Amino acid sequence: MPEKYQINAELRCNSTIKGDYRKLELHAPEIAESAQPGQFVHVKLPGLEHRILRRPFSICDANLATGTITIVYKVVGEGTAHLATIQKAGTVFNLLGPLGKPYELPDADERFVIVAGGYGCAATYLLAKKASVKPLVLIGGRSSDDILLVDEYQTLGCDVRIATNDGSQGRKGFVTELLKDCCGNTAMVAACGPNPMLKAVSDMILPLNIPLQISLDHPMCCGIGACFACVVKVRDNASPDGWRFSRSCLEGPVYDAREVVWD
Ligand code: FES
Repeated sequence: MPEKYQINAELRCNSTIKGDYRKLELHAPEIAESAQPGQFVHVKLPGLEHRILRRPFSICDANLATGTITIVYKVVGEGTAHLATIQKAGTVFNLLGPLGKPYELPDADERFVIVAGGYGCAATYLLAKKASVKPLVLIGGRSSDDILLVDEYQTLGCDVRIATNDGSQGRKGFVTELLKDCCGNTAMVAACGPNPMLKAVSDMILPLNIPLQISLDHPMCCGIGACFACVVKVRDNASPDGWRFSRSCLEGPVYDAREVVWD
């Protein structure tokens, strides 16, 4: 596992991507150096330290030249609404990270597929960046407002295909329909997005015996294995019920999809 750090990181920029989606760039050279695809940082929100505990955010990108990490987030509640108002460069954020189990890169010559729903594409970006053979990237969302990072993936050299539920961008329908067309020809699938999407991807890919890594987005509290707020069910043949609780902040957020028990 890579090193973990608790550091104070200065804000470089906090900008709007589109609609409610924002991009936060923080100067955190140690974390940028150490971050692996799919890991997250646990962030204290300046000005809300007394009301809200740390918040987990996937590390979207890590830039070694600038020593910065990039986080993509959606304004959905009090914490992220407050975060969106923090605009002053130099504002200090306390970060803990990089945390969690990362995606495993495929072998150097293997082509693979990324399936991302909504801003799940932020958690898989570093995987595409570090891969020697660039993946086919399938991005889905409710409408074109939810389709992010297409230019960024294309700049890496990825082939990007899009599906939206309302047909406003790419194919009309679910991203799993795009996956159906290409899943016979991949060494591995890596996915991140809402649970129904992850379950649908698991139902399609696991019977084909193709390795599937999924990143589960579960509410967290401590982020370091102390509170059990983040548990998910995983298979465990040694347990009488055949399953056990797994702390997704430690054993995840990335799991081999064969391990996950869907309720
Ligand atoms: Fe506390 Fe995972 S968030 S144990």
